[in-house]
Amino acid sequence: MPAFDELRVFSGNAHPALAQTICEYLDIPMGQVEVFKFSNDNTFVRFQENVRQRDVFLVQPFAAPVNDRIMELLIMVDAARRASAGRITAVIPYYAYGRTDKKDQPRVPITARLVADLLTTAGADRVLTMDLHAGQIQGFFNIPVDELTALPLLSRYLKAKELPDPVVVAVDIGATKRARDMAAKLGAPLAIMEKRRVGNADRTETLNVIGEVQGRTAITVDDEIDTGGSLLSTIVALEERGVQDVYACCTHGVLSGGAAGRIQGSSVKELVISDTLPHADGSLYPKLIVLSVAPLLGEAIHRIHNGLSVGAMFE
Ligand code: R5P
Repeated sequence: MPAFDELRVFSGNAHPALAQTICEYLDIPMGQVEVFKFSNDNTFVRFQENVRQRDVFLVQPFAAPVNDRIMELLIMVDAARRASAGRITAVIPYYAYGRTDKKDQPRVPITARLVADLLTTAGADRVLTMDLHAGQIQGFFNIPVDELTALPLLSRYLKAKELPDPVVVAVDIGATKRARDMAAKLGAPLAIMEKRRVGNADRTETLNVIGEVQGRTAITVDDEIDTGGSLLSTIVALEERGVQDVYACCTHGVLSGGAAGRIQGSSVKELVISDTLPHADGSLYPKLIVLSVAPLLGEAIHRIHNGLSVGAMFE
């Protein structure tokens, strides 16, 4: 028996197509809300249906323009709270600013924490998200956080390809755990790239490859691909060490600044991502394979609403 009244799912402007597919999975109509900007650049939100005592889920990945999307979500939470929603869950399939999660230089912010505080202050009761840059970001919230992973989805797709002599490659030390999990799912060995970020610009250097990759099919794993710099330098380093082919995968295809075109032009065979973020037309980038996380998010929403285990989805 659900503890809260009727389940309602609403979308901000970041990724309505994903919210719609989640609603199809749940077999409910998408909630009616208007979210727009006045000519003075101020964002306005109005729920166009009653949300009093409802179990409200607000779907909004932090896609570009990131700051606008965050602000939209905060205002949606505020509007739902003031309209007496029973419970408000911020569904954030991609949590931007996740990389700004520590003071690793003097006089820098911890923006991932700031955004968590803003969401809580606005009135969110829970967060549902996917593959945070670091799991510890869950602890930035003083409200419950359910973190799903797209790893099984990506692994199933790659396993079905039956690639010859696969080796799973973590593109940096931080991606090692994800890569190890995927290697276990594929029954493949693991290799790790030693990557260095150069200054605060989006530039990386791959220094070393730990593990045996010669003559194998490499499958690179990361939480996100942003400019594509890490992936492209990884491909060069792997090819220098005699890798046969490279397939790449990640949960979040941020693909900023022309990354999709650069990856399309590279020697990578396929880049497998999920739809936590909206993506450009697949016909432009045939190497880009997009798998939907809508059933995962839909199932998690169903379970949260009905007080069932979310963890059991991954057992
Ligand atoms: C960083 O630690 C992340 O796991 C990714 O490796 C990074 O976000 C990728 O960024 P880019 O594609 O710009 O190299």
